[in-house]
Amino acid sequence: MYYKKLKEFPKDFLWGASTSAYQVEGAYQTDGKGLSVQDLHKSVNGITDFKVASDHYHRYKEDVSLMAKLGMKAYRFSISWSRVIPEGTGAVNEAGLKFYDNLINELLVNNIEPIVTIYHFDLPLKLHENGGWSNRQTIDAYVDYAKLLFERFGDRVKYWLTINEQNVMINHPNAVYPIDSDLPSKKELYQQNHNMFVAAAKVTNLCHSMIKDGKIGPAPNITAIYPASSKPEDIVAADNWENIRCWLYLDMAVYGRYNPFVWNYLEEKGYEPTIYSGDMEIIKSAQTDFLGVNYYATATVSAAKNDGNDCQPRHGDQQVMLGEEGVYRSAENPNLELTKFNWIIDSVGMRTTLRRVSSRYDLPIIITENGLGSEDKLTIDGKVHDDYRIEYFEKHFHQARLALTDGVNLIGYCPWSFEDLVSTHQGYKKRYGFVYINRLENDLKELERIKKDSFYWYQSVIHNNGANI
Ligand code: BG6
Repeated sequence: MYYKKLKEFPKDFLWGASTSAYQVEGAYQTDGKGLSVQDLHKSVNGITDFKVASDHYHRYKEDVSLMAKLGMKAYRFSISWSRVIPEGTGAVNEAGLKFYDNLINELLVNNIEPIVTIYHFDLPLKLHENGGWSNRQTIDAYVDYAKLLFERFGDRVKYWLTINEQNVMINHPNAVYPIDSDLPSKKELYQQNHNMFVAAAKVTNLCHSMIKDGKIGPAPNITAIYPASSKPEDIVAADNWENIRCWLYLDMAVYGRYNPFVWNYLEEKGYEPTIYSGDMEIIKSAQTDFLGVNYYATATVSAAKNDGNDCQPRHGDQQVMLGEEGVYRSAENPNLELTKFNWIIDSVGMRTTLRRVSSRYDLPIIITENGLGSEDKLTIDGKVHDDYRIEYFEKHFHQARLALTDGVNLIGYCPWSFEDLVSTHQGYKKRYGFVYINRLENDLKELERIKKDSFYWYQSVIHNNGANI
């Protein structure tokens, strides 16, 4: 659709940026923090672990002052569960709570709205050892943990995200878990998934009962799935994967029920979880206020061949397998370019994704992640010329504005990431930030903060409230 005039971004639009605790904080054993599953990562094949990361734990004041200079209206970060409750349940670590208390206050002094992810891939190790999300006690531990956060921070934090990318944890467990030797079976993963749905619903209700004006939503990784051709079989395959990958999660958060197609698929495959008495009532009772959408890339699929080869690694990345026997097969999209790390770039796909989410659920949306990972280089005069990132965001912001004009209730945009941090499984050389952190994969250097060219560009976008996008 062509428009005579594009809508303006709303005055209170939440221009922000995102990070997650284990990828940015470091201080993995400082001041009483317990270990999380992410702390099991070892430095292998020259890829760093998460022990120091960007040292945000010690440098948060400097980081927040850079956020303020950037003009950020919101900062989406996660709380490290094992920093505040070292064993995931039981004793509380006051020093850990103090860190987040200080961070939140520092943000508010600088007029930056905190958007807090309660859990972002870093399950406390003790809970993991006791069965992780397969164990129903983890639901109670998560509820107690959230209760603590709401008690301590609910007076100041109004935007909450329950679980980051639950769908990635279920569909690509080896991309986020370091312990790839004993990955759960699909059946077990879907039981974990169900338990997380119950946990998120309980915490959604708790947020509403404990926090005045509190708003809470999920943050899955959502994308439109394209059929490889107009062949009707390819369309069905795209629909299969879009339902399994995306709508299962949002249908549960918004409608409080299993997507009927996906439930049928789970039964057909023998993956259906056990649903305990009262679970669906709890899920149904939880009212999601807004949707966090992590968007990176669309995917294109064709009909499954059911020949034993429907599942393949994504562009050579063994950590991310795509396709499922008899369900769908991953396909190339000749219309789209790839990043140097082989991720698809599709800004128009973001508009399509936002429109689909909006027309299915009609709720406010915050883009909680979107960004370009690249090997940025520091020049000898101490600059980072990341013009490719500027080009990437110019296109994506424009598509966000088109989506807004289409009628999507987009209330915020938090690119990934505020500053460079450790990628989930591709180390420190894959940088996403507006702020360069002067360290290398295995050389911590000074960890100095350096504004990239994209920092200045984003600063002017925010200053103009996206008027020139
Ligand atoms: C999302 C995650 O999947 O994508 C982040 O929520 C992650 O934690 C981001 O860092 C980018 O992925 P990667 O693998 O390049 O770090």
